[in-house]
Amino acid sequence: MSELQRAVQILRAGRLVAFPTETVYGLGADARSSDAVNRIFRAKGRPSTNPLIVHVSGVAMAKVYASEWPDAARRLAQAFWPGPLTLVLPRSKKIAPEVSARLSTVGLRMPNHPLAIELIRTFDGPIAAPSANRSMHISPTTAQHVREEFGASIELILDGGPCTVGIESTVLDLTCAPRPRIVRPGGISKERIETVIGSVDAPHVVTEVTTPAVAPGQQEVHYAPLTPAYRFDRLPVTAMEAPDVALIAISRDRSLRRLSLHRIEMPNEPDAYAHHLYAVLREFDHLQARAIHIEMPPDAPAWSAVRDRLRRATNPG
Ligand code: TXA
Ligand code: MG
Repeated sequence: MSELQRAVQILRAGRLVAFPTETVYGLGADARSSDAVNRIFRAKGRPSTNPLIVHVSGVAMAKVYASEWPDAARRLAQAFWPGPLTLVLPRSKKIAPEVSARLSTVGLRMPNHPLAIELIRTFDGPIAAPSANRSMHISPTTAQHVREEFGASIELILDGGPCTVGIESTVLDLTCAPRPRIVRPGGISKERIETVIGSVDAPHVVTEVTTPAVAPGQQEVHYAPLTPAYRFDRLPVTAMEAPDVALIAISRDRSLRRLSLHRIEMPNEPDAYAHHLYAVLREFDHLQARAIHIEMPPDAPAWSAVRDRLRRATNPG
């Protein structure tokens, strides 16, 4: 039996499979089964108030699991699917209510990864999947990262190589008035969305990792390394000289540069930066440094998703 067939069998039995997407690896279960979905929350140690994203194989499947498919959804799916854009729409009763923390909505996305699409098509059903990390840890962008998170407790990890995008999808709520609202910035920018459906509201800016949750789907504590991490507009000279402080700076060009065990320069371009971000954070978390100091990229629209993840992972320095 192929790995894919095994994965489908496991999903049909109501159990969990980790699989690659273009953004991060997901921990998947049958989105129609409450029991299966509850297993995800237990495995991750995730609060049941934080809704999961449902992965579909295309527009036809999305229309079965959203109870409405407005024109904005049609146009956005045409422009950005398969890809890193999750659309929040009214939820069909066929989706287990636990998936969306009992909200009346559901987040749907068609991932841009051949293995993920083959899995959903062969399973022939929607797959609920958060990032395949323990709650509050850094999201995984390789199969090895998933193994580090869960060890042998995950029955099967489909290995599709490193994720190309490297940070999670943009989540756009199409059910809120007066305008759609970005709930989480990600792989598709606000500007690109606006060229398709006109103006949308931006998320409020996260400033502290300790901000308490406000409502289901709005949790802000996320993605944090275990080593205390601080962000700076410009790295302080004192940190540059401290041997027990790890530094993540920005390079002057698109390339990633390793200066020493504790020092790295990230690409000066948002997509390339995003691609490396979680692997670098994870690696630097293993250095057992006293702290990680991170130089923030410019406060410009193109950097909003990367800046969002860095803010969630750090406190102001
Ligand atoms: O790129 C991604 O989106 C990855 C891959 C695996 O597809 N998945 C992912 O899922 O990041 P997760 O569970 O880590 O993030 C889910 C987030 C929630 O925290 C919330 O912000 C938003 O998506 N979300 C999901 N359903 C929602 C809903 N019905 N209403 C509002 N926000 C929702
Ligand atoms: Mg996550």
